[in-house]
Amino acid sequence: MNFLKYIAPCHFGLESVLAGELKRMGADNVVAHNGKVTFSGDYNIMARANINLRTAERVLIELGAFNARSFEELFQGVLKIPLENYIGSKDAFPVKGWSLNSKLFSVSDCQSIIKKAAVERLKKHYKIEWFVETGPVHQLQFSIHNDEVTVMLDTSGAGLHKRGYRINANSAPIKETLAAGIIDLARVRNNTTFYDPFCGSGTFLIEAATKALNIPPCLKRKFAAQNFGMFDEAIWSQERSRGIDLINRDAEFFGYGSDIDFESVELAKQNAKKAGVFSKLLITQKDAKDFEIKAPYGVVCTNPPYGERMLELEEANQLYRDMGECFNKIDNGSFYIISPSEKFETLFGKTATKRRKLYNGMIKCQLYMYYNAPNNLKSRDEIRERL
Ligand SMILES: C[S@@+](CC[C@H](N)C(=O)[O-])C[C@H]1O[C@@H](n2cnc3c(N)ncnc32)[C@H](O)[C@@H]1O
Repeated sequence: MNFLKYIAPCHFGLESVLAGELKRMGADNVVAHNGKVTFSGDYNIMARANINLRTAERVLIELGAFNARSFEELFQGVLKIPLENYIGSKDAFPVKGWSLNSKLFSVSDCQSIIKKAAVERLKKHYKIEWFVETGPVHQLQFSIHNDEVTVMLDTSGAGLHKRGYRINANSAPIKETLAAGIIDLARVRNNTTFYDPFCGSGTFLIEAATKALNIPPCLKRKFAAQNFGMFDEAIWSQERSRGIDLINRDAEFFGYGSDIDFESVELAKQNAKKAGVFSKLLITQKDAKDFEIKAPYGVVCTNPPYGERMLELEEANQLYRDMGECFNKIDNGSFYIISPSEKFETLFGKTATKRRKLYNGMIKCQLYMYYNAPNNLKSRDEIRERL
């Protein structure tokens, strides 16, 4: 029983990054799918995944999967799931989910059928007629895709992008999980010199520093499954201790952040303090047109204004031109720039070494990757290999 199947949803485009994270932490049967990664492991792996994953949105237990094209099939499918192994007689068990390309398309109807079947199953087991649902919340989730139903139990509670360091955000922060994925693709290491010249509230800087120092992103926060009767409280303390033991405060990493807006600079500083990485960062007010890499070699991850939420489109386009003028003179760094603009490369004045489609919320973006090799990495093959 203590070996379970799990599902971790993630941003489209980051599945392989998340699969890599899971393999490194010792999960079994790691398989990347569209927008999610499935894996298996014991209860400690579940706790470890919640505390350590940088790019997952949450960790769900897969309770059952079956085909259903009618409400009756849906009801019978849920009735077979041994929910009593997870849900106690007083626990709350709300249901939510989604349906895509399926005969059962009404989400609210599916929601009530699944709830009814769950109640029916638990009634037989606990021999009670009424569920008070005053205990810990056990959020049931379902997905119906091409008539395949998956029923899941959420172990995370609040989404895993809620690390606990963001005191406040500016008007267009990048989601922590997406920033962490880009940082993984940029191969930020414990000795990287890192830059974000449009740092806003500091998300890239903080995610890069915590990765370089190996600080588990969700070390200090709570998870829904901490209140589940089925898990021993010890797994959480074991996994938090494991995470703390692996932190490397002596890492050579250093990050430079800048933003034209004074309030954003102050906000980024506050957030960095809260995340415990302020001493590894220098955050200043500066126009990105004056950007430079002072270290022998630097990695730049950044999301300039899109012209949708922050600046008008033409202003954003001019900014991309200005960025190109400045950044294209720099040959001692690699650039990872996320933008929704299809014209970015033309405006920036240089074709990316490589591109990757990523979604920032609902906005379809490209990660434009410009790679300048450090002096010790000369061959073209080696460069391609790194990307
Ligand atoms: C999309 S936001 C970056 C959000 C950031 N990644 C975060 O998570 O909070 C773009 C940022 O660029 C800044 N900005 C706009 N024009 C700038 C310029 N010319 N130089 C430097 N920063 C600029 C804005 O103040 C804003 O904070």
